[in-house]
Amino acid sequence: LGQIRLDDDTPGLCTYDPGFTNTASCRSAVTFIDGEKGILEYRGYPIEQLAESSTFLEVAYLLIHGDLPDKAQYEQWVHDITYHTFVHENVKTFMQGFRYDGHPMGMLEASVAALSTFYPESSNITDADNRNMQIVRMIAKMPTLGAWAFRHAQGKPYVYPDNDLSYTENFLAMLFKMSEQKYEPDPRLAKALDVLFILHADHEQNCSANAVRSVGSSQVDPYSSVAAGIGALYGPLHGGANEAVLRMLRRIGSKENIPGFIEGVKNGDEKLMGFGHRVYKNYDPRAKIIKKTCDEVFEVTGVNPLLEIAQELEKIALEDDYFISRKLYPNVDFYSGLIYEALNFPPEMFTVLFAIGRTPGWLAQWLELVQDKDQKIARPKQIYTGDRGLEFTPREERW
Ligand code: ACO
Repeated sequence: LGQIRLDDDTPGLCTYDPGFTNTASCRSAVTFIDGEKGILEYRGYPIEQLAESSTFLEVAYLLIHGDLPDKAQYEQWVHDITYHTFVHENVKTFMQGFRYDGHPMGMLEASVAALSTFYPESSNITDADNRNMQIVRMIAKMPTLGAWAFRHAQGKPYVYPDNDLSYTENFLAMLFKMSEQKYEPDPRLAKALDVLFILHADHEQNCSANAVRSVGSSQVDPYSSVAAGIGALYGPLHGGANEAVLRMLRRIGSKENIPGFIEGVKNGDEKLMGFGHRVYKNYDPRAKIIKKTCDEVFEVTGVNPLLEIAQELEKIALEDDYFISRKLYPNVDFYSGLIYEALNFPPEMFTVLFAIGRTPGWLAQWLELVQDKDQKIARPKQIYTGDRGLEFTPREERW
């Protein structure tokens, strides 16, 4: 099509699609979404069933390997990931170099990218065993790096992994352990976090997966590719939305202020954070599961007063023509921040939690990319709108 052009001075025929709203950049067998019907499946399995009966590490195996593990495969997978939870001691040293008030996502992004320097063999992306090794390492080390970024920001000593605990329990221990005694989180809260990780594990070609694929298409190592995904997730329109939801709910402050706030949204003053989605034009299936998880968590922790405001806000928005006509429904982030807050996470950690959950998805997308023989380096076209053929005048003549 690029050969079809009006004359030599005009570009060839191409699609102008800013934001790739209608452009498929790859073929993928990882995740299926039907946004109109509100369906999400990982490798063909409905998200509702996985959230109900699976574990995060089993879902990670499913995403990476394409099928559910048998008993031996599952045990080996959990063993391998548990074995690799420790990070090199030098990571501690450069973690200490970050400003005390730096955002933990920045620390996570930088430290994941830096892992490529600890595992230089990761640049050999053609060797399947080597690829799998890096995948295991990355899933294993993300909670350690995330927890250390959190401890650093709080000025607390880093806690080493406790490999007697499950993946999620271990993460909670590295975050919240305050004494020499063994930290044993409430299993109901660890389970809730495990479900949240499952819900975030993949979402086909979202902004961060696209970043992972785009950077990965240069055939760089997987740590650099995933670090690019973390960078994309850092943004407020992607992973940063649940943090923004909590700030929004706090600003609204009480149910009486909701109508005024909604009017502001309709006038275009701001967005209703946690609402709307590029793909879902129906209720996000993950938001439904999160609402249920909310109830389970609040049974243990007591109710967050912001929940009432969130529920009322949802009710009013779902009955309002502005939101109905634009098919704007709650997305995964509308309620997740409330759970994270109940679990004692400060808002700046919310996106880090998202990143830990999304890591298997990024890696599954990366693996698919590097094994796809048709994949070329990502290099979109542009519609050039600038000047042409100007004559350069040296500085001394221009000034
Ligand atoms: N509040 C108010 N209006 C909205 C919202 C919102 N949250 N989202 C979209 N709209 C409006 C737009 O202004 C636009 O209105 P218009 O037709 O009058 O111009 C219309 O709905 C269509 O919206 P687009 O911006 O075209 O939708 P797009 O697919 O580009 O954006 C996005 C999707 C970025 C998620 C958007 O809905 C948004 O900013 N939502 C709030 C942030 C958020 O919750 N992000 C989390 C997404 S989920 C995730 O990343 C895990």
